[in-house]
Amino acid sequence: MASVTQQMEHSEFTNPNLEVLFSADQIAARVAELGTEISAQYVDKDLVLVGVLKGSSVFHADLMRVIDLPITIDFMAVSSYKDGTKSTGDVEILKDLSNPIRDKHVIVVEDIVDTGLTLTRLLEILGSRGAASIRLASLLDKPEPRIKKELKIDYTGFVIPNKFVVGYGLDAAGRYRNLPFIGVVKDPSKA
Ligand code: IMP
Ligand code: MG
Repeated sequence: MASVTQQMEHSEFTNPNLEVLFSADQIAARVAELGTEISAQYVDKDLVLVGVLKGSSVFHADLMRVIDLPITIDFMAVSSYKDGTKSTGDVEILKDLSNPIRDKHVIVVEDIVDTGLTLTRLLEILGSRGAASIRLASLLDKPEPRIKKELKIDYTGFVIPNKFVVGYGLDAAGRYRNLPFIGVVKDPSKA
């Protein structure tokens, strides 16, 4: 067993290369507000909360628990092809929904909308399946690099500057998803 001191030295949560942008408490408070809003708007509607793996897993798990309605959940996994670090808009479905969405009210839950190319394509795919309605919830909105300006985010957690963020489900090369807060990597070469 590592001692407490040893553990602190290796703590990911106090990693000096991370600058906290939103604390766990700030995120929880904002997610609760979104839950209240959604709960009021979907009374008597058959709502399915679709999480887009893996980035939205933490937000999805927290959001469903502040929606005080009889909802169901489902998941999709998509890979968005990148040209360097830029999204190209080509989306491959790695895991499709488990159940049909015909006549259901859908909220697609995302971690972050950047260029908007991935979600625009995903909404096109889901749009052909006869859902009663499809809306979009994104924890973070990074409007500056947006290419798909027409993409409407119905429920936004926070609008952020054009910086690369990690934590609360968001990763850099697969790492940092487990951070309870959202942070900016100060020196990406040390990430
Ligand atoms: P888009 O097609 O450019 O909107 O790509 C959105 C996807 O890129 C998100 O679902 C994330 O997986 C990833 N992404 C964009 N910005 C960030 C960031 O700042 N941190 C981590 N992942 C990001
Ligand atoms: Mg993602």
